[in-house]
Amino acid sequence: MIEIDARLDELSELGLRRRLRLVSGPQGPRVILDGRPVLLLCSNNYLGLADHPRVREAAADAAMRWGVGAGASRLVSGSMTIHRRLEERLAAFESTGAALLFGSGYLANTGVVSALAGSGEVVSSDELNHASIVDGCRLSRAEVFVYRHGDIEHLAWGLQEAGGRGALIVTDGVFSMDGDVAPLAEIVELAHAYDVRVVVDEAHGTGAVGPGGRGAVAEAGLESEVDVVVGTLGKALGSYGAYACCEPRMAQFLLNSARPFIFSTAPPPPAVAGALAALDLLEQEPRRVEKLQQNADVLRAELAREGFEVAGSTTQIVPLIVGDADLAMRICEAAIERGVFAQAIRPPTVPPGTSRLRLAVMSSHRKSELRDAAQALARAALACGFRPGTGMAVAEATVRASAPEDAGRVFDGQASIASAA
Ligand SMILES: Cc1ncc(COP(=O)(O)O)c(C=O)c1O
Repeated sequence: MIEIDARLDELSELGLRRRLRLVSGPQGPRVILDGRPVLLLCSNNYLGLADHPRVREAAADAAMRWGVGAGASRLVSGSMTIHRRLEERLAAFESTGAALLFGSGYLANTGVVSALAGSGEVVSSDELNHASIVDGCRLSRAEVFVYRHGDIEHLAWGLQEAGGRGALIVTDGVFSMDGDVAPLAEIVELAHAYDVRVVVDEAHGTGAVGPGGRGAVAEAGLESEVDVVVGTLGKALGSYGAYACCEPRMAQFLLNSARPFIFSTAPPPPAVAGALAALDLLEQEPRRVEKLQQNADVLRAELAREGFEVAGSTTQIVPLIVGDADLAMRICEAAIERGVFAQAIRPPTVPPGTSRLRLAVMSSHRKSELRDAAQALARAALACGFRPGTGMAVAEATVRASAPEDAGRVFDGQASIASAA
């Protein structure tokens, strides 16, 4: 039996214990955090839609019209019209023949990955993929080849080694803790060469990158080459829930095989309607995406001016890697004291030795706020004895984290043919 107190003490000693902080009000650019006003620089409400009046109204109206809960899985108590409407809109948005809603991005990834690979097959997964993909790999019971981050040669080696057992390559489009983009064109090329499917998780790409915020796959012009695009409604689209966009037969297959779709209650109507309104706003006001990207450029430039290493990120996610978990926590607290909330991210979310502050820009931030935040973060770092610029660039950090002996242990925890590399 797990010794709860001992485990909590151990986490505290390692600087890895987590606690909840209380935010009053919505996820706006400024919030009251544990009673203190701060700039919110770590929310995935990238386009400021979670608290947009039209999104709120749509959710409130839907609660009155369809009720708050969906009642059951759609396979059990019927598919509500609002679900179908959002699926049609998402399929059109992603230029695919179909879309299937899931309860969350976590459920979508575990469901899609475990449906598309099975015992005796091999899934190739980037070592920095989100935990929900890692868990999907585990649930699939397939062998998992964890390839070094964005390393196409390593991926090709693994596909070769799989000797025809390869089923799937799965990758984040935009990496959630690093803000870099997967080499999707090369991945698709390898998938063709080895006849395996490709799943791309656009959790941080939707609404943030690509034409009109259509994601990293659209940016690379690969809409017809990727078997399943997973996206979440809980980040740029300001709501909750997720989707898998794919061709109709694939959607039929997932509907029959993805366990989180089959065995979990459908997304609540207010969340679905809120996402529909957010999608309208995204399409009607593409300027929001441009503003987000401009703000990301401003933040990176201001951080670089303060001496921080930010070269690895090309998106709205900007990590400040400090290495040590305890140091990352102390800098986070010091930044809060200076009016900026940028959450410290530690193992197991990121590899050991690469703890960081993960900054996330919103289109609703003002440029002056981002400038002030960069200065506050530099002062906070210095106050904790960390000189900006002495951290690692993302690329360097991920190379360090890529040591083969670490790959299976840290990111996967199960037998991995990566250990043979
Ligand atoms: C890359 C990635 N995929 C999936 C998810 C899960 O999405 P959701 O929050 O909708 O469960 C996240 C969220 O944290 C993520 O960062």
